[in-house]
Amino acid sequence: MTQDAGVLLRGAERLPVPGPLSTALYNRDAAVLSGSMGRVYPFVMERGAGCEVWDVDGQRYLDMAAGIAVVSTGHSHPQVVAAMQQQLTKFVHMAGTDFVNEQMVAVAEKLSRSMPSTEQWQVFLTNSGTEGVEAAIKLARHATGRQGIISFLGSFHGRSYGSMSLTASKSTQRKGHFPLVPGIFHAFYANPYRTPFGIASEQVTQATLDYIEKTMFGTIAPPTDIAAIILEPIQGEGGYIVPTQGFLCGLRQICDRHGILLIYDEVQSGVGRTGKMWGFEHDMEQNCAGCSHCKSMNRSNCTPDILVTAKGLGAGMPIGGIVARKSIMERWAEGSHGSTYAGNAIACAAANAVLDLVHGGLMQNAAHVGNHLMNGLRELQSRYACIGDVRGRGLMIGVDFVLDRTTREPARQQANAMMEEAFKRGMLILTCGYSTIRFCPPLVLTTAEADEALERFESTIKAVWK
Ligand SMILES: Cc1ncc(COP(=O)(O)O)c(C=O)c1O
Repeated sequence: MTQDAGVLLRGAERLPVPGPLSTALYNRDAAVLSGSMGRVYPFVMERGAGCEVWDVDGQRYLDMAAGIAVVSTGHSHPQVVAAMQQQLTKFVHMAGTDFVNEQMVAVAEKLSRSMPSTEQWQVFLTNSGTEGVEAAIKLARHATGRQGIISFLGSFHGRSYGSMSLTASKSTQRKGHFPLVPGIFHAFYANPYRTPFGIASEQVTQATLDYIEKTMFGTIAPPTDIAAIILEPIQGEGGYIVPTQGFLCGLRQICDRHGILLIYDEVQSGVGRTGKMWGFEHDMEQNCAGCSHCKSMNRSNCTPDILVTAKGLGAGMPIGGIVARKSIMERWAEGSHGSTYAGNAIACAAANAVLDLVHGGLMQNAAHVGNHLMNGLRELQSRYACIGDVRGRGLMIGVDFVLDRTTREPARQQANAMMEEAFKRGMLILTCGYSTIRFCPPLVLTTAEADEALERFESTIKAVWK
């Protein structure tokens, strides 16, 4: 933690950060909370509204991180707050695993309706993303009677044992935690920027699919023993990576050929963040300009069998869930799975309000303002050689910093320095992957706020890369 002088921006004088009240709380936190919770910079929140937050010393910040892509409707959205307040006056909890409540049923109805109507869908609600992932892999193993699961390098699925075993994002997350859950195999994600095997990006889709079908199935992972392939349609913690075209459809085809279930982890990319309800929808046949994989498929798209959601669903309330084809969910008998707080009435009241807002315009706003922000970031890329790549969809955008544009060597140290520098300049950002700054603000972001973010980002680049 440093005490550098603040900067002047838009005429508002910023005091040095962290201020005295933030510093005091930061120190109290360090004494009693586990050091496993990284403190990326000393922001101590007092309140928030929309995309703005204030620290306990009264300093304002533009929030481009949204509590790690969670606060989808912005901080304390009046409609979400009102929905929770109304429910609070009625009741808080009545074990959704054992009893019915209307809020829970309404969330499940809305989630089912958000999936392609060619299928019937059912929902199991959870309290977090990792629990959603656990539910998905339990269901996949149970429904298929198989044990193997294929996940991807660079993926992040959570911190409990099953999801941690799928995760292959940073080795610190696994270090000292072995043995992990057996039966999990990692394949290459179709990363177009840092391609597997250093091949050309046009070859990545076929090469990564072939690696699964020819190499893995032929050597270490018999397909008849594989229950599921799980992936993020856009990798989140791994670096905000949009896979090459045809990757999702190709995986769908592999799954169909071998009776394997396809699971999308949309914990970070879902609920309108990418400008569509789910990230995978960008790859559906009607959107992907008819790639060869779609054309050769006998099913109409790259719809999953199970989808995992969380984060943005509750806009800050702890709620997640899985949406599965009814024919698969039906395989679970009563008592096969459960969770005390699943379907909690307050969390569900928040989720109902969030889903209404997302379908009522926020998703379109994410597409529109996301496009504006992306254009602004690409313009910065044209002027600053340290920006190797700008990628993403909607308001899920990654800016990859490199030491050299040709070698694409990640600028890890500088990316980390940028977080702290942006904090001093009144903007909250987070990194992901090796050296990527992610922009995942609330979906209520306006173009004026996006412009303010761009201005602060440029001044941050100038300060770090002087
Ligand atoms: C794609 C993805 N899946 C799962 C998780 C785990 O979610 P949670 O932290 O709510 O358990 C995360 C969290 O960052 C995530 O990004």
